[in-house]
Amino acid sequence: MINDIAKILIDEETLKSRVKELGKQLSRDYKDKELLMIGVLKGSVVFISDLMRAVDCFARIDFMAVSSYGSGTQTSGAVKILKDISIPLENYDVLLVEDILDSGLTLEYLRRVLTLRHPRDIKIAALLDKPERRKADIRPDYLGFTIPDEFVVGYGLDYDEKYRNLPFVGVLKPELYK
Ligand code: IMP
Ligand code: MG
Repeated sequence: MINDIAKILIDEETLKSRVKELGKQLSRDYKDKELLMIGVLKGSVVFISDLMRAVDCFARIDFMAVSSYGSGTQTSGAVKILKDISIPLENYDVLLVEDILDSGLTLEYLRRVLTLRHPRDIKIAALLDKPERRKADIRPDYLGFTIPDEFVVGYGLDYDEKYRNLPFVGVLKPELYK
């Protein structure tokens, strides 16, 4: 598996300390709120599991699944909800947790759909941001790292459902998805 990686972009230590910082920020911002962290499956599972443990205030978690990429590396723009959350959002300060903001179409859609359910507040936490590729008008409220326009895997991110279990974020050798 490791031989498929061209280079390590963000190593384990750097991920760990940045996620800790984000956790501190969230702990301050959500101290007197009703935090509901909603992870977008499956890419956010590693990030949310580290992030939630870095948050020192009451927090609920739930998950949604949407279809976006299939096995390619380009978004189709079409988003479909495959798994929804079951609780009403009226009394919650929702934090959508994503692995990466790329075109932004997925999160823009999710934010729109969830806003219709009248949460008290809705914000976005993304581990990674590729601003060069943005098509939707959306920015993360909490961000781990801004990265260049390269296809990355690891720490939850996949290519064709592989590499999610790498402990770092790395650039996949381009010949593997051409
Ligand atoms: P968006 O709707 O284009 O912002 O796409 C978001 C989703 O595309 C993310 O949640 C990822 O699953 C996937 N994605 C975008 N860029 C990458 C990448 O570099 N590596 C792995 N998955 C990616
Ligand atoms: Mg994916």
